[in-house]
Amino acid sequence: MAKNKLHKYERVKHLHNVIFSQFGESKSPGSYPWYGDGYRGMKMVLELGCGKGEHSLGFAVADSSRLCVGIDSKSHRICVGAEKALGQDLENVFFLRVRIERIREFFVKHSIDEIWLTFPDPHLKQRAIKNRLSAPPFLDSYKYLLVPGGSVHLKTDSDLLYNYTRESVELWGGRVVAALHDIHKNGDIHENGDIDKVDIPVGDDNSGFGAPGIVSDFEAAALSRGVSIKYLAFTLG
Ligand SMILES: C[S@@+](CC[C@H](N)C(=O)[O-])C[C@H]1O[C@@H](n2cnc3c(N)ncnc32)[C@H](O)[C@@H]1O
Repeated sequence: MAKNKLHKYERVKHLHNVIFSQFGESKSPGSYPWYGDGYRGMKMVLELGCGKGEHSLGFAVADSSRLCVGIDSKSHRICVGAEKALGQDLENVFFLRVRIERIREFFVKHSIDEIWLTFPDPHLKQRAIKNRLSAPPFLDSYKYLLVPGGSVHLKTDSDLLYNYTRESVELWGGRVVAALHDIHKNGDIHENGDIDKVDIPVGDDNSGFGAPGIVSDFEAAALSRGVSIKYLAFTLG
C-alpha cells in the first residue's frame, strides 16, 4: 500500500472530528456529537460517499448555521477533509466512517434537512443496481432520516445514474423538484425538447442548483474530460 495512504489511515484515528463506526456497538443515535447542545437548532446536512468531503467543507464555510456530516467507508479519503476542517477551525463539520447502508444507526429519525449524494458510483452491472444510492432501500432510509419537507440532492456525471434516479424516485412515490442536465450551464433547452426544470426556490448560498461553486476532485476530473455535471433534487413525501 502507498506510504501516503498508510499515513492517512494512522492520522485519521487521532482527529476529533472523525467518528468511526464500531461493529457490535449499540449506541443511541442521539448520543453522537452532532446532537450535542452546541449544535441545537442548526440545519443538518449529510453528504453520502463524501470522499475528501469537498461539499461538506464548502457548505460549512458558506453557512455557519449548517452542521455538515460527511460519510464514507474510506478513512484515508475522510482524513483529507477532516484535516482541512481542523486547519480552518471549522466547528460545523464532522466525518463519519461507516457504510451508508448503516446510516440509520447514527442519526435520529426526522432530524436531517438535506442529504447530498455527490458523485456516487453508478454501479453499471445489472446485479449491482441494488447498490446505487438511489435504489429503493436507500430511499426508505432517506425518508426515515429527513425532516418533513427535507430534500435529497444528487450530483453526477453519469447519464445512466441520473435517469435511473429520476425513475426510481418517481416509482417510489417521491417528487423530483429540480433537474438540471448541466449545472455549469443553467436553463438549457435540450435537443429532445426536455427543458431543465426547477420547482424549488434557490437560496443565495452556493448549495442552489447543484452547488456549482463547489467542485470536488472527482467533478474536476469529469469536467476536464468534457462531461457535463447533472443535478437532481427530490423530496420523499
Ligand atoms: C466516486 S467517489 C466520489 C467522492 C466524492 N463525493 C467526490 O465528489 O469526489 C464515491 C465515494 O463513495 C464512497 N462509497 C461508495 N459506496 C459507499 C457505501 N456503500 N458506503 C460508504 N461509502 C461509499 C467511496 O468510498 C467513494 O469515496
